[in-house]
Parts: sequence; structure tokens; C-alpha cells
Amino acid sequence: MINGGRRLVGAVDISGAKNAALAIIPATVLAEGKCRIENIPDIRDVRLMMDIIRHLGASVKQVNRNTYEIDTTYIASETVPDAMARKMRASYYFIGALLGRAGKAEVAMPGGCNFGVRPIDQHIKGFEALGARVRTENAVIKATTRELLGGAVYFDLVSVGATINVMLAAVKAKGLTIIENAAKEPHIVDLANFLNLMGADVRGAGTDVIKIRGVDSMHGCDYSIIPDQIEAGTYMVAAAATGGDVLIRNVIPKHLDSISAKLVESGVQIEEFDDSVRVTANGRLLKCNIKTMPHPGFPTDMQPQFAAMLSIAEGTSIISEGIWDNRFRYVEQLLRMGASIQVEGKAAIIEGVPQLKGAPVRADDLRAGAAMVIAGLVASGTTTIEDIHLIERGYENILGKLTALGADISRIQDDDDTPARVIPMVSSL
Ligand code: EPZ
Repeated sequence: MINGGRRLVGAVDISGAKNAALAIIPATVLAEGKCRIENIPDIRDVRLMMDIIRHLGASVKQVNRNTYEIDTTYIASETVPDAMARKMRASYYFIGALLGRAGKAEVAMPGGCNFGVRPIDQHIKGFEALGARVRTENAVIKATTRELLGGAVYFDLVSVGATINVMLAAVKAKGLTIIENAAKEPHIVDLANFLNLMGADVRGAGTDVIKIRGVDSMHGCDYSIIPDQIEAGTYMVAAAATGGDVLIRNVIPKHLDSISAKLVESGVQIEEFDDSVRVTANGRLLKCNIKTMPHPGFPTDMQPQFAAMLSIAEGTSIISEGIWDNRFRYVEQLLRMGASIQVEGKAAIIEGVPQLKGAPVRADDLRAGAAMVIAGLVASGTTTIEDIHLIERGYENILGKLTALGADISRIQDDDDTPARVIPMVSSL
């Protein structure tokens, strides 16, 4: 429940990047040894990922809230069952990792945020280019190979998941693998750095062409996950939308360039420091047009949050979704709060209104839920958001972080409908 109309003021610490952690945790399967990984976000998807890797036989020790030791010396299984795989998208990274380690993988079809069809044809194209045979039998993806051989992969379209999955399979494939039309997101570079610390030979991550020379064996290492670009962007937008003044700490400002640029266009002041950015806004924000593209373009995962902010900006903004077929479902929830938005195919036309009004709404998916939180923060009156477990998949301690910034936000029910106890924030385990 959020009582809106309060400016966010103060400082917030950004957690490790969800989409980097969800690639790096499966990657530990490629080493026969212990990895110590810091700055892992304390979110549901990470806990699910740890359950899967324990199921495969690895030993996992949680050192503190954001640090784990994962020992993959013994992996006894190459199967990820449906009950685990269907809970999120990134479970399919175990196909690439298990192919790389054991030459076989059986992973049930993944779940994940629902923005229409999410095919995995490019992942399969990549695995087959490395000599694997891939077939799907009753919703289980089965990949096998006698030997992985380096090969050339030219993706038909830029895919973060397919780029990651092929990197995981290729690091121990014999010979040279060249991936062209690769995704360039910060989490791709973070994965490459982690793999190289484990003894792999990955070059060119962050560009269109990634070259990987296979190695015979890989070992454990110590690593720290990069800060979460999308969590940081979400708090930047929340600060801007509420006319606040917030210092966003533990970030890599370079990763936020496209987000900062659009906020500046909307009339927001952004001050960059080495590992933080300060966001200040006062007076009504201005309209701006957004087109989501693969990195370094504007990130699709920031599109719903901007729509919430632009709902109360001056003028009419247009958001074009260049990545997903159906990522405007949350607009229906914003309309319930008095927004004036029209969805035409892959574009949303947002006519700024003076104010949103609190209402009962729901989170359609992770970033849609974040957009509803931002809408609730700026709306007059009370907003209640259902299905907040979807938000907690990707945002560590969102209630604590927003409360510390002055938001009037509280959890009024747990998923199983029992009234939540007021849980005092434990600063660190
Ligand atoms: C990752 O999803 C992220 N998830 C998504 O973030 C993010 O929206 C997306 O990348 C784009 O940045 C994780 O990292 C766990 P894609 P992914 O493969 O890898 C099509 C969040 O909020 N495609 O880059 O599934 C696909 O349908 C989540 O943290 C194929 O056609 O995205 C889409 O239109 C939501 N065939 C486009 O490519 C394929 O084989 C880009 O998808 C693969 C993808």
C-alpha cells in the first residue's frame, strides 16, 4: 500500500545486477571447484537459481546476505525439472552450462515475464553450431553432444539470452567459436569477465563479435557482480517523478547513459560522480519520446517505469517498444489511476495529465510492477498493488529502500493472504 504525493529525498544503495547474477550462477557449473561471489542481489530469482544448482549436486553456502560460496566439484545430475525451470526465464542458462561441463542437459521449458511469445530458436541455433543435438520432448529441452566443437554463430536478431547461453556452451568447446550480432549489455561483459577469471578465453564481449577459444578445464574464482543498471534506473525515475532529490549509490554511471539522457530531456538534473549519480527534479517534467533498443540503446526493461513518469509530464510522449511484442499490458493499470495513454501496436502515446489518483492495481510482471510503484508514489491518495512477489523477483528490499527515501509504503498482506507481521529491517546478516 502506498500513500502518494511525497518527494523522495536522501540516498539509496543499488544492489548487484539481477541479469548478471542469473548468468554467472549457472556459469559456476563450468568450473570444478569453488567460486566465491559477492554483490549478489538478495532477490527471489537468485534464491530459485541457488535451489537449482543445489539440485544438480553443487554445495552452496550463503556467507552473508549478498555473498555466496558455490562449490561445483561434484555435479551429479544434468536435469533441471519443470517445477524449478518454469519459475523463471534464466533457468535455460543451465543448458549451455551443462553442455559445456558434461556434454548433455535436460532442462524443462523456462517460464519468465509474460510479454507474448518468447522463442528460444536462436539459443538452439547456437548449440547446433557447436555440434550439439537439441530436441524438445514434452516441454523438456534435451541437448546432447559427443564433443562440443567451436563454430560460427550469426544470430538473426540480437538476443541477450542466446548470447549468454552460447558463451556458456562455447568456453570448453574445442577450437574457436565466433558469435556475431551478439548482445552488448553490461551483464554480457560481466559474464565474460567472470568466465575469463575461471580460466576461459573470451574476447570482444560488449561488441557485436565475441570470439571464444575453448579451454580444457576451468577453475573456481572470486568475483563481485556489477551494480544493477535497471534497479538504478528505476530509482532514478522514481526520484524524478516525485520531484525529489536522491543520490543513487554503487552504480557505474556509464551503464546509465541512455537513461540519464532521457531524464535530462524531461527536464531532470543529473549529476554524475565516480560511483553514484544525483537526481534532482522540481516543477513539472517535460514530455519525451523513447524507442527501446538493444544496448547501448534505451533498455526495454526501463520502458514501463518511464511510462508511469511521463503519465504526469507536460505534453504528449511516445514510447516505441522495439524488443518485445506485447510489453504494454501494464497500461491498463495506469488507466485505472487516471492516466491518458493509447496503445497502437508497439507504441504507447502518453498524454500527460496533471495528476494520477490512487487505486487498487496489480503488477503484471517485474518491471510493470515497478511502474505501478512509481505511479503510486506520485498519485494522490492510496494505491494498493497486488502480486508484489513479481516485483520482489528483481528488487532487493524495495520496501526498505523506498521507506528510507521518505515514501509512505507498507506491505499489507503476504502472498498467502495472512496479514504480514511488521518485520524490522535487519541491516545485514
Ligand atoms: C533478457 O531476456 C532479460 N532477462 C530481460 O529482462 C530483457 O527484457 C531482455 O533480455 C532484453 O534486454 C534476463 O536477462 C533474465 P532476448 P531474454 O533474448 O534474454 C527474441 C527483466 O525485466 N528472441 O534479448 O529472454 C525475443 O522474443 C527481464 O529483468 C527470439 O526471437 O531477451 C525478443 O523479442 C524481462 N529468439 C528479442 O529476441 C530467441 O531465441 C530479445 O529477447 C531469443 C530471443
